[in-house]
Amino acid sequence: MRLGSIFLVVALCSFSAYYIYEPIPENIDERWKLMLTDTFFRSLSHLADFSEIIGLKDYMGVMYVITLLENIAPVSDEHVNVTVEAFDGVEVLLYQPKRQSGEMELRRALIYLHGGGWCLGSSHMGPYDFLARKVATELNAVILSVEYRLAPPHHFPVPYEDVYRVVKHFLQIDVLARYSVDPDRIAVSGDSAGGNLAAAVSQQLLKEPTQKVQFKAQALIYPVLQALDLNTPSYQQNQDMPILPRTLMVRFWSEYFTSDRAFFRAMMANAHNNPESSSLLKFVNWSAFLPETYHGKYNYSAPEVAQGEAGLSFESLSDPRASPLLVPDAALRGLPKAYIMTCEYDVLRDDGIMYATRLRAAGVEVTHEHYDSGFHGAIMFTVWPTDFRIGHRMTDNYIKWLKENL
Ligand SMILES: *[C@@H]1O[C@H](CO)[C@@H](O)[C@H](O)[C@H]1NC(C)=O
Ligand SMILES: *[C@@H]1O[C@H](CO)[C@@H](O)[C@H](O)[C@H]1NC(C)=O
Ligand SMILES: *[C@@H]1O[C@H](CO)[C@@H](O)[C@H](O)[C@H]1NC(C)=O
Repeated sequence: MRLGSIFLVVALCSFSAYYIYEPIPENIDERWKLMLTDTFFRSLSHLADFSEIIGLKDYMGVMYVITLLENIAPVSDEHVNVTVEAFDGVEVLLYQPKRQSGEMELRRALIYLHGGGWCLGSSHMGPYDFLARKVATELNAVILSVEYRLAPPHHFPVPYEDVYRVVKHFLQIDVLARYSVDPDRIAVSGDSAGGNLAAAVSQQLLKEPTQKVQFKAQALIYPVLQALDLNTPSYQQNQDMPILPRTLMVRFWSEYFTSDRAFFRAMMANAHNNPESSSLLKFVNWSAFLPETYHGKYNYSAPEVAQGEAGLSFESLSDPRASPLLVPDAALRGLPKAYIMTCEYDVLRDDGIMYATRLRAAGVEVTHEHYDSGFHGAIMFTVWPTDFRIGHRMTDNYIKWLKENL
């Protein structure tokens, strides 16, 4: 009872405190709506911090409320048949268009990986369901939305491995035939942490000579692509931006690997690299891979390297399955053509731009779509009451690219 009242008071106080003007860039559309939306996210984050401090529930456990609030039941409609399936033991939502294709005509397919920092989110959330139905209907395509397991209960590489298992299962000739899918027209896609998983699994398939069916395209929506430098110009410029402040992104990264708070603190200070990962810093050197216009007022300095401190020697930090930017050019050559969406007001802006630069240098066809007034997570904001015009615009452009390239 007493805890309940404390909770309520803190919730109200933090809500009031943040229910005030916060500086949001002038050129962002529907600013007041974004301010109010972000008030909710910030209040929840403070509540989550408080809950963890008093030992009630851990931070991510409280933040998971966001996922639950948007949870909807997967139901078929007049255009799409939605079913819950298990592919090699991993849950997927399968969207199959009801429109009859011509006799023997094969369909395109898209494997979609939701965002949420590997810790939050679900294929069952309203906005992901909206997106999947729209792509299924407009492209007459089969969509597979993967319900991979999440950290912190399941640290790296479990979320990645769940995705990999679904991909390997689906890309078998007989499985594709069951769903009338054309093996030459399959793409993988995802937003934020989902973009990370999509990029990682694309690289993995390319390395397997026995993998006959490969992706035709990868569509990465403001993807997370590296954990080594958390002070790129976009991390610095956007550290207090709505929806994904730097602290939250760092929290996601550290929770993906470990629940050890010492690692989180080292990452906050950008002093988490170990001697092994430091040899890979050249692959995320923004001074080399970011066009001048994105340097802003920032000067490059390589992240500090911790010398063998306990708790900081994570091999995962150097693993390209977690940070797809950490591979040499040779491993990028031959990757499927890429669509990369980035937003100006996003800590992850530079991850996406660096990947675009590096893929192009390796001869991969890249469409880079940058939103000057975009903010992280915008493509999720398509459902009332948090629907934003920019979210719909992004959705339309994304689908247009898929129509033309898949
Ligand atoms: C939907 O898919 C399920 C499973 O594949 C199938 O049993 C059912 O008949 C389908 N329904 C329609 C209306 O196509
Ligand atoms: C980063 O790139 C710049 C410019 O290409 C170069 O001068 C610098 O030595 C590089 N630093 C690292 C750590 O790779
Ligand atoms: C970056 O370097 C330039 C030239 O050396 C210097 O004038 C400027 O103050 C530096 N900016 C920052 C933010 O340190």
